[in-house]
Amino acid sequence: MPKITFFDSKPYDREFFEACNQNYGFELKFFAHHLNSDTAGLALGSDAVCVFVNDRCDAAVIEALYGMGIRLIALRCAGYNNVDLRAAWERINVLRVPGYSPNAVAEHAVALLLTLNRKTHRAYFRTRDNNFSIAGLLGFDLKEKHAGIIGAGRIGLALIQILRGFGMRVMAYDANPRPELAAQMGFSYVELPELFAQSDVISLHCPLTPETRHLINAESLALMKPGVVIINTGRGQLIDTQALIGALKSRKIGGAGLDVYEEESEYFFEDFSDSFIPDDVLARLLSFNNVLLTSHQGFFTKEAMQSIATVTMQNIKDFFEGKDLQNEICYHCGNPDCPPKPGGRCF
Ligand code: NAI
Repeated sequence: MPKITFFDSKPYDREFFEACNQNYGFELKFFAHHLNSDTAGLALGSDAVCVFVNDRCDAAVIEALYGMGIRLIALRCAGYNNVDLRAAWERINVLRVPGYSPNAVAEHAVALLLTLNRKTHRAYFRTRDNNFSIAGLLGFDLKEKHAGIIGAGRIGLALIQILRGFGMRVMAYDANPRPELAAQMGFSYVELPELFAQSDVISLHCPLTPETRHLINAESLALMKPGVVIINTGRGQLIDTQALIGALKSRKIGGAGLDVYEEESEYFFEDFSDSFIPDDVLARLLSFNNVLLTSHQGFFTKEAMQSIATVTMQNIKDFFEGKDLQNEICYHCGNPDCPPKPGGRCF
């Protein structure tokens, strides 16, 4: 039976994967450490590694894993920006879990939006302190406001469906537009400058790539409506955090709901409550009462965890049985519909 080493594993990962393994019978080894060039050696003797969003699979790590005879990186997440796909190409197969529960993330984006808009995070602490004043808690109706969705894939579309239910007018920007689907769901595709200029709420759901890194920057923030609410459940580096802080200080931005942060790998999923945060940028973000930061928990529902475990285990089984790999990532674009082509551009 294949031996699988898990990195960055928490008790909840163990619980869901061990339950799922009843149907697979693999040998599982769990480590709390992130995968990086210092810890890669822990995988010695394994046939595959199973990694999460903040594990680092750069060229050096891939070299080390390959040298140990490991031929599979099984991502237990949808995003793949932490893997050097080019270094892995033709050496180590990289599989992911593309759509375990788009609703989990879309619903979390809505939770961030509703909380920020109606300020329930502040109201909660006020009433617990016998403060029943509502001054400063003014929100706005979402109905008939404009939402701009960047990346209308699985999660973006699930969010569009929910926001349409609120009666919002939805526009989307996507590198691969699907006009028929837009007509059916009642949204329109626009170019980015129009989306920035027209939206009352902007939510990010595109992958992190060299093209999308710092998509939200000083220039794009300048194009936005005053009071715009920005939600990011995609990846931290989609936003230039310093520019966001500038826009928060000048009150250009009405609020920011962030499930991800540029430098999150140092902090997210860990407990620093007995310590302090040396990252001044993160500390500054946390000082705004119109910033709501969650610790990359968009995916964290029971249904999504069960689906992540099942798809990851099936990916591993298919690999070791030499079957067609449904969830392999194209080394160039990551598009699951794109057959990997070494050296060629795919879109
Ligand atoms: P998906 O692959 O279904 O959709 C991504 C969409 O972005 C596609 O429609 C694609 O055409 C579009 N896109 C690609 N490049 C683009 C560009 N340069 N500009 C605009 N659009 C572009 O992916 P899915 O499942 O919707 O996930 C989206 C992202 O959400 C993931 O890449 C991941 O980073 C993040 N994520 C966050 C989670 C969390 O817990 N906060 C959990 C799961 C995913």
